[in-house]
Amino acid sequence: MLEHGGRLLEAAAEFGIAPDQWLDLSTGLAPWAWPLPDIPSAAWMRLPEPNDGLELAACAYYGASAALPVAGSQAAIQALPQLRAPCRVAILGPCYAEHQRAWEQHGHQVQLLDMQQCEALLNVGFGSPSFDVLVLVNPDNPTGRVVDRNRLLEWHGQLSAHGGWLVVDEAFADAQPACSLADCSDREGLIVLRSVGKFFGLAGLRLGFVLAEPQLLRLLESWLGPWAVSGPARVVGRSLLADTTMQQVWRQRLLQDGRRLYELLRRCGLTPSGGCALFQWVTDADVAQLHGRLAERGILLRLYRQPRGLRIGLPATEEQWLRLEQALTDVVQVTKESRA
Ligand SMILES: Cc1ncc(COP(=O)(O)O)c(C=O)c1O
Repeated sequence: MLEHGGRLLEAAAEFGIAPDQWLDLSTGLAPWAWPLPDIPSAAWMRLPEPNDGLELAACAYYGASAALPVAGSQAAIQALPQLRAPCRVAILGPCYAEHQRAWEQHGHQVQLLDMQQCEALLNVGFGSPSFDVLVLVNPDNPTGRVVDRNRLLEWHGQLSAHGGWLVVDEAFADAQPACSLADCSDREGLIVLRSVGKFFGLAGLRLGFVLAEPQLLRLLESWLGPWAVSGPARVVGRSLLADTTMQQVWRQRLLQDGRRLYELLRRCGLTPSGGCALFQWVTDADVAQLHGRLAERGILLRLYRQPRGLRIGLPATEEQWLRLEQALTDVVQVTKESRA
């Protein structure tokens, strides 16, 4: 299994601090509880049925013409490589490591490219691209890098002209919808993945969507099998996707707190090198030491070793903001003194 954020029980055992004493900022999820609807008993008792309004609500929310609900976008990440014969796959890195693992596991030839390499290979302007599938996360996790929509559409044009795919994982796009390709997802060879876990802060619900042309969605659906999303998840999904007023409040709040986190880190001498509304990405520091010192104080961040960096999520309350600020001030001070 690959490493992910949110493994609080593991950290509790390692640092000898009870789970309820931690401030867990190791995930990039909205930190507040989205208001949940009542779940009718039929949703628990009956088998879930497609087209109960969830697909339509998703199309309206994402601005797409077709949407397939899945049990978290992770389910689609694992299934997509099985829908193609082994081929050449490029992944714009660094990004969520599950993409690379899924394509490699199914016999595809995977290369990780940085932005320059990707541009060089796709902007040659003639001939077929040197790969069949390009996968990227936009905005990226963990760096926050955003690739412009028009550039992505150009890349998609080049790939699809040769039967290729552009897979865009938009798990973190809800707070900055201008970068999304959801409205173009009916184009052949363009596959957009969306997650309900991050923006709505409902990672435990296990709900996500694939936006693509209907033929590909049918193939994916038959591969995933019936009842891929539970009845209760479908009820919650319908409710949150339709609540446009709350979505607006949520978006403003996340953007505001994302800026607040950036400013706090900057004041503490840890200016982020990237980030988005849901997390900040710090590379310009001894990140392993910072991670360890904060963990000793019961604050869990996500440490990356390759590329080296720390991803820091949003505190939920004023008390948590103060706790983070105090700990950062102490830890950065101690680190400076030990260097002097
Ligand atoms: C970029 C990215 N995509 C997809 C996922 C999977 O999320 P979910 O299965 O909860 O939709 C994650 C989870 O962390 C992620 O970071």
